[in-house]
Amino acid sequence: MRIILLGSPGSGKGTQAQFITEKYGIPQISTGDMLRAAVRAGTPLGLAAKQVMDAGGLVSDDIILGLIQERIAQPDCHNGFLLDGFPRTLAQAEGLAAMGIVIDTVVEIKVDDEEIVKRMAGRRVHLASGRSYHTEYNPPKVDNIDDITGEALVQRDDDKEETVRKRLDVYHQQTKPLVDYYSVAGRTKLFASIAGVGHVNEITEKLFELLKQ
Ligand code: AP5
Ligand code: ZN
Repeated sequence: MRIILLGSPGSGKGTQAQFITEKYGIPQISTGDMLRAAVRAGTPLGLAAKQVMDAGGLVSDDIILGLIQERIAQPDCHNGFLLDGFPRTLAQAEGLAAMGIVIDTVVEIKVDDEEIVKRMAGRRVHLASGRSYHTEYNPPKVDNIDDITGEALVQRDDDKEETVRKRLDVYHQQTKPLVDYYSVAGRTKLFASIAGVGHVNEITEKLFELLKQ
C-alpha cells in the first residue's frame, strides 16, 4: 500500500499517519521529520534547511527528491509506505512519478486556515519520533511528556503564528495544485478529500474506510 497524505501545515497528517502506518505495517516517511533530524544532527543539509524551515519556506526540490529516492529504496519500504509532507510541489510529484512509483491512494485532509493557526499554538511534539500532541485537543497522558518514551515534549521553532501564516501561503500557492494533479486519471488509483475537523479518531475512521477501497 503506497499512500500520500496531502494537507496544509497542521491539518493532522502526522497525527493520522501514526494510526495508518500501525494498521498497515508500513513506514511513515515524513520529509519534515527527516529534515528536523538533520537539523538536530547538525549536518550541512540540516544547517541549510533550518533557515528555510524557520522562515516557513520550502527546501529545494532536488534535495528533497534525493532524500526520498534514498529512503524508499530501503528494504522496509518494499511493501509500501506512507508519504507525509511529500510531495509539496508539482516538480516533486513529477519527480516521484519519474522514479516509477505507483501510488495507490492520495488523501487530502482539509482544514481552514484559522483553525490551523489555533491548533499550532497548542501543538507539542516529541522531536525524536515526530509524534505530536495538542495541549487541549490531543493531550499526552502526562503534561509535556511523550506517552511512549517518557521524554520531554517541545514546541516546534516554526510554530510561531507569523511563520504558520507564511507556511499556509506557501501551501496554497505551491502544494494545493497537487489536488488537481492527482485528480487526473492514472496518477493515483484513488484520490479523495476529507474534512480534517472533528475528533482525531473520527478522522482516523474516515481514512480507514477510504483505504479499504
Ligand atoms: P512538515 O514537518 O511536513 O510540516 P507541515 O506540512 O507544515 O505539517 P505539520 O507537521 O506542521 O502538520 P501535520 O499536518 O503533520 O499536523 P499534526 O498531525 O502535527 O514540514 C516542516 C518544514 O520542512 C516545511 O515548512 C518545509 O520548510 C520543510 N519541508 C518538509 N517537507 C518538505 C518538502 N517535501 N519539500 C520542501 N520542504 C519541505 O497536527 C497539528 C496539531 O493539531 C497537533 O497539535 C495535533 O495534536 C493537532 N490535531 C491533529 N488532529 C486534530 C484534530 N482532528 N482536531 C484538533 N487538533 C488536532
Ligand atoms: Zn507533520
